[in-house]
Amino acid sequence: MTDETQHHLHFSCATTMDEIPDSTIDLVVTSPPYPMIAMWDECFSGSDPAIAQALSQENGMEAFEAMHRHLDKVWDGVVRTLKPGGFTAINIGDATRSLAGEFACYPNHARITMALIQRGLTPLPEILWRKVSTAPNKFMGSGTLPAGAYVTQEHEYILLFRKGGKRVFKPGMAKETRSRSAIFWEERNRWYSDIWSDISGIRQETGDAHVRQRSAAYPLELPLRLILMYSAQGDTILDPFSGTGTTMQAAMATGRSSVSYETDSAFAPLFDERAKATPSLSKKLCRNRFKAHLKFVRDRLKTRKPIKHMNRVYHVPVVMAQEKALTLTQTNQVIPSGSGFLATHGDYTPREKLETFDISATHAEESQKKSGPAKSQIAP
Ligand SMILES: C[S@@+](CC[C@H](N)C(=O)[O-])C[C@H]1O[C@@H](n2cnc3c(N)ncnc32)[C@H](O)[C@@H]1O
Repeated sequence: MTDETQHHLHFSCATTMDEIPDSTIDLVVTSPPYPMIAMWDECFSGSDPAIAQALSQENGMEAFEAMHRHLDKVWDGVVRTLKPGGFTAINIGDATRSLAGEFACYPNHARITMALIQRGLTPLPEILWRKVSTAPNKFMGSGTLPAGAYVTQEHEYILLFRKGGKRVFKPGMAKETRSRSAIFWEERNRWYSDIWSDISGIRQETGDAHVRQRSAAYPLELPLRLILMYSAQGDTILDPFSGTGTTMQAAMATGRSSVSYETDSAFAPLFDERAKATPSLSKKLCRNRFKAHLKFVRDRLKTRKPIKHMNRVYHVPVVMAQEKALTLTQTNQVIPSGSGFLATHGDYTPREKLETFDISATHAEESQKKSGPAKSQIAP
């Protein structure tokens, strides 16, 4: 297993990323500044005077394209640094805006999808992140009168791409690590859905109020899921627009290494805070996932649905044979190291007193008949 991970921070522009050698990143998880959303105008204008000029002339489509040309330089680096078979997950929302009296939707997701296709990545089915919202006003445009009302945008995108064909896991360590990194069947059923509606968009507590306001951080659950879905323990995750370090924390908490770029060095203390908090957070995440699985097992046994395999590490029933070696990894310690952090990891062991649980009353009994009665231990 991976017992150490490295977390490199670069408070610099991600348009070059010279520090990262070619084909060394397993997964990119990121959320860029959103073109044509007003809060990012200053950020984009600083990178190219043509953007400031287009905005001041209220030439929306020109500004939109110039902002994306800036992001394109980062996508060049993403494609260069990604390993063959590696994934990229990009959280982005479209923008709506009135300029020169004209209301328009600026389709950021479509522009980024095309940019990555043009750079050779393969587009995969995307996820619509339908934020849990409490927005009081759903009207845009002419209200109840036809034909000038606009639908409210209540979703963002998680665009998914792969570099080339399927990732190859060689026999031996790589395959074993992949097996350890399996997720629970019931997690798979929820997470591999094209609509995520169970993650709130509410920004996280990040300390300083001013910094928090301009961070546009995504919730930890978002990179956490993507990392568990598209990488194995010990992999390296890149976030070129890392903001407050949410991706770094998700990588650290799940036993992956990370590389972060961020132009705004005011966020540096937030990385320190996140790193410090990760050991206890990681244990909590493991405990919650394990407890949720135990609940799933109990509910499934009550309904007498089959659950015929046994996880070898925790001795709990699992639905798929692929879950037999599933091992949750926790972060034990994080220390400053070079330009970032070094984290140590170990296998999660449930603290609860385990009770013997007889699964012979389920359908598992039938499949186990040949090899004798099956017993499992789960926490009370
Ligand atoms: C949408 S925010 C990312 C928030 C992040 N996902 C989080 O959870 O905190 C985009 C970030 O990209 C940063 N940024 C913008 N242009 C950049 C560039 N060229 N290189 C590196 N970072 C950049 C911004 O300062 C901002 O913090």
